[in-house]
Amino acid sequence: MLPNGNFCELDNATYLVLHTPWRSRRDDLGAASRRSDQVQRSGVGAVRILGIVAKTHDSGLALLKDGVPEFVLEEERYNRIKKTNKFPKHSVRAAFSELAIGIDDVDAITTPWDIRQLRRTFLSIVGGRLPLSLTFLLPRSHVSQQNQIVLLNQYLQRGLREHLGARALPPIVNVGHHNSHAAMFFASPFDEALVLVMDGYGDDSSSSAYFGRSNRLERHWSTGVMNSAGLVYTFVTQHLGFAGFGDEGKVMALAAFGENTYVNRFRDVIKPTPDGGYAVNMDYFSYTAFGELRPFKRKFLDTFGPARLPDEPINDRHRDVAFALQAVTEEIVLGVVRSLLKKSPARDMCMVGGVALNCVANAKILEHTDVRRIWVPPCASDTGAPLGSALWHYHQTLGHARGFELTHPFYGQAFSDDSIRQALDQAGLNYRRIPEAQMLRRAAQDLADGKIVGWFQGRFEMGPRALGNRSILADPRRAEMRDHLNARVKQREAFRPFAPAVLVERANEFFEIDQPDPFMTLAPRVRHDKQNVIAAAVHVDGTGRIQTVERSANPRYYGLIEEFGRITGVPVLLNTSFNRKEPIVASPEDAIACYLASGMDVLVLGDFYTTDRGPNGVAHETEHIRAAPARASASEAALTARATVRP
Ligand SMILES: [Fe+2]
Repeated sequence: MLPNGNFCELDNATYLVLHTPWRSRRDDLGAASRRSDQVQRSGVGAVRILGIVAKTHDSGLALLKDGVPEFVLEEERYNRIKKTNKFPKHSVRAAFSELAIGIDDVDAITTPWDIRQLRRTFLSIVGGRLPLSLTFLLPRSHVSQQNQIVLLNQYLQRGLREHLGARALPPIVNVGHHNSHAAMFFASPFDEALVLVMDGYGDDSSSSAYFGRSNRLERHWSTGVMNSAGLVYTFVTQHLGFAGFGDEGKVMALAAFGENTYVNRFRDVIKPTPDGGYAVNMDYFSYTAFGELRPFKRKFLDTFGPARLPDEPINDRHRDVAFALQAVTEEIVLGVVRSLLKKSPARDMCMVGGVALNCVANAKILEHTDVRRIWVPPCASDTGAPLGSALWHYHQTLGHARGFELTHPFYGQAFSDDSIRQALDQAGLNYRRIPEAQMLRRAAQDLADGKIVGWFQGRFEMGPRALGNRSILADPRRAEMRDHLNARVKQREAFRPFAPAVLVERANEFFEIDQPDPFMTLAPRVRHDKQNVIAAAVHVDGTGRIQTVERSANPRYYGLIEEFGRITGVPVLLNTSFNRKEPIVASPEDAIACYLASGMDVLVLGDFYTTDRGPNGVAHETEHIRAAPARASASEAALTARATVRP
């Protein structure tokens, strides 16, 4: 139980009523974001914790010293395998060598899975549907998570010994999966908040609600592991021809092109329950017996049609099923939030877990509930689970006070000027080194001229989104820029939107939003009178996947947008991750390879600037965009045009 509180029994969950009113640590989240990374020491000796995970998607690590992250690394950035589950050997080597430490300098190792609980859960799933559920033992039935995760501790110990040359290791502490997600609250701007975790599944739940106050979290509600709105979203994503456990954002974007044909029918798939939770109707699903091998029963296929093959054209039915999935997911999330708000005076909220990447639903929470402010970490998915497990252990288990607030995502590896120069030389590119002020003017003018700029600076970001240090940037005023970026630079679907990065002080001028969103986790409406001003940044539903940028969080990125604003009057840039169909680039070599293979015009690596394509780079392809006036894009028109004869 939290301090100063008592409990009252409501429905099937126990909720906390505080004697003191819940309040925010600061009156203004903008002011809160102007923080420092300096930990206010708890007075206890230095504690370093290694959070680490493998054998499931998003393998990686975090090093936490006295409650402050030193590194947060995803192995996919190094081994170039999206959502890899391999042992994070490159991350281990990079972090430990950069910090010049050994495993002896680590006090505890944490993992974001309670392995004993996970074993019990697996056994109960398999035991519950015998003999059909024996399929669950086949690796193909759960590709994203290997069976060997039940031996995670031993696997991690072996890997750490091998890659750090260590014999003795600190103890491994298994932290519950949702506890690990919820622990991001400790790095939030709020002293007190409602914390909602929703993901595919954890070791004992798929949705959980906590109340957080100071350095304590307490769970008050949860659903069963397989009763999962997140899993439904993932499996319908697969049904629509995309990759489950990774492409859910594509379906969220596609949904905006659909109509409400299937919404009523989808309301029978996931239903709200009287206790404020929800129930997945298993008449439609067989994933509890066959996992990813056969997630749907006949009833789902009869109701929503057959699966789309990955290279099959997208038709009205696909768009409308995506619409229904998104709409009902939003209804379920809003219902859960409203129910929790009835039982708590908290009006600030942290949203974590894979479902928290649904920036459209997050924006609706702000718009349609009494939540005052919402905070979603940049590593809301399992990319942040190792960090969360370390935070849980540091604050919840060891009892250390809080003193750190996460206001930027730049906890990856940086690369020296020498390594950048070496990579440019090896690629045979001509380049110039330019002082910062001059570089900002040069790059901003390039962007204003319609050029596409690869922007590589400092330490790379944690989490799935590029937020200004590994970004491809472009002019949002040119409507055709979106199609060009999708087709020629990113090589991805035409319906995918791009995020507008805006100076935090000017955000409200362009977007219907009253709070900062530094991590691109909300999709507020673009103000009506600005929709033509930043045409390439506006999705078909009139929203934008906003990123607010503060000078203190990233002075160089802020300076670039500010300079672009001086030239054009529009302090907004189009921002997309620096990659094409592979993980976001990490090293200068990755960035150069991506630049040369794509239609980018300019590459900026730290202080180094080039427009050289070298002997093998593809030609520039943006001349027509520089010349073309802004107008509605052809691909969007094609997507929004409904078929004459509906299926
Ligand atoms: Fe998760």
